[in-house]
Amino acid sequence: MESITRTIIVTGSNKGIGFGIVEILCRRDNIPNIIMACRSKERAEASKAKLEEAYPKAKGKLTIILLEVGVEKSMLGFVNEVKEKFGEVDCLVNNAGIAINVDENNEELSRKTA
Ligand SMILES: NC(=O)c1ccc[n+]([C@@H]2O[C@H](COP(=O)([O-])OP(=O)(O)OC[C@H]3O[C@@H](n4cnc5c(N)ncnc54)[C@H](OP(=O)(O)O)[C@@H]3O)[C@@H](O)[C@H]2O)c1
Repeated sequence: MESITRTIIVTGSNKGIGFGIVEILCRRDNIPNIIMACRSKERAEASKAKLEEAYPKAKGKLTIILLEVGVEKSMLGFVNEVKEKFGEVDCLVNNAGIAINVDENNEELSRKTA
């Protein structure tokens, strides 16, 4: 049985694990609204086009909203745009980031890489 998730955000979804998560969602019979939260418009559009070509049913279900995690102005703008376009969100996949050895006490670096 498929879940009834209606709107889902996947951060960092233009490549890697985030892209893979969106791809899996695009294979569902009932594709949710997927917000691709990415920092590069160009990279996000290229990935969206790839997905729409591979999964034509995903057309109209993928929305790019720009987000640079760790940059307050970008994060606030993202939240406002999501609220404006979707009202509410059912699921957040907080994937964007990089894997490095982070000093637990370095808050700034932790926020950027979480
Ligand atoms: N792969 C692994 O084995 C592994 C293991 C443990 C944990 N993880 C975690 O899983 C997550 C994804 O890993 P991955 O292997 O898929 O990495 P990836 O291929 O490097 O993809 C990372 C994604 O996050 C985006 N991103 C990075 N920093 C961002 C920021 N500040 N704001 C917005 N987007 C940002 C990247 O955007 P750009 O393309 O614009 O750079 C890209 O879309 C990371 O958080 C990583 O730490 C991965």
